[in-house]
Amino acid sequence: MQAPKDFSSVSPSAKSLLLMKGYTNIPYAKQAAALMPGPEVFELSFDEKDFWFWVRVMHFESRYWSIDQLLKQTDHTNILELSSGYSLRGADLCVKNKNIHYIDTDLPEVVATKQKMVTELELVAHLKGKLELLPLDVMNRTAFDDIISRFPPGPVTIVNEGLLMYLNLKEKETLCQTIHHTLKERGGCWITADVYVKRTAAMLATLPQSKGESAFMEQHHIEDNKFDSYDAAQAFFNDQGLELVKEAVFDPQILSVLPQLIKVLPEELRNSKERPPKIQATWLLRAK
Ligand SMILES: C[S@@+](CC[C@H](N)C(=O)[O-])C[C@H]1O[C@@H](n2cnc3c(N)ncnc32)[C@H](O)[C@@H]1O
Repeated sequence: MQAPKDFSSVSPSAKSLLLMKGYTNIPYAKQAAALMPGPEVFELSFDEKDFWFWVRVMHFESRYWSIDQLLKQTDHTNILELSSGYSLRGADLCVKNKNIHYIDTDLPEVVATKQKMVTELELVAHLKGKLELLPLDVMNRTAFDDIISRFPPGPVTIVNEGLLMYLNLKEKETLCQTIHHTLKERGGCWITADVYVKRTAAMLATLPQSKGESAFMEQHHIEDNKFDSYDAAQAFFNDQGLELVKEAVFDPQILSVLPQLIKVLPEELRNSKERPPKIQATWLLRAK
């Protein structure tokens, strides 16, 4: 039998994301980033803070809020976050709402570091809802089902961002089957911010990347793992028994880093009427 694939080489990306989110007003991101030991992992231009730096930060800030936007449109109190990295959305929701049961999961090493973070941030005393931080490899169906069984009866909302581009087609199908099974049994929905479409050659040529980042992208076949188009993504989910119900709407008003981006906007873009290309969407899916 084939040994299960080791996904831990993906985990450094969570640190890079936290350090970027540390420049935004995403709840607890600044405090958590300050606790993160060691240097940035992909040699990104954190010192230069140029246009491309703020574009990236803005993209990840927007992706974070897009999940919150759709979460607010469900009234479910059982929430499971997959591959949450160092995101503290669960803690934020549990501080604000006593009815929430949030299970926040990632691979074991990330969870161990995050547990220390939560302790150092002294969040536990402020929690009104129930927050659990647990290891979960999303490819492990038995472990997934065990985690779901911790919730009290009722529908479950599953959320994730920054995972599907690390899974090949077969792995994506396996995860979709697991999620489909859960949603069929329990009711609820899946909010995923991972509907990324492949970039055009021109877009790839424009985007500056450090050597470390390019190597990481190649190692994990990130471009290949993206969808060919939004229609192809919808057809893929449809084949897995999951139907698109809603898409999050881009909301520039909520972006805390927009003023920084505008300050460094190149002249030609300042005067351009063209909208920047859409590279990602956040979808709410239900089991058919
Ligand atoms: C790009 S980070 C995203 C982190 C977080 N969701 C965010 O947006 O800030 C990818 C995360 O996926 C996790 N991951 C990768 N493969 C996984 C798997 N098979 N099961 C669970 N988590 C996984 C990594 O440990 C890492 O934390």
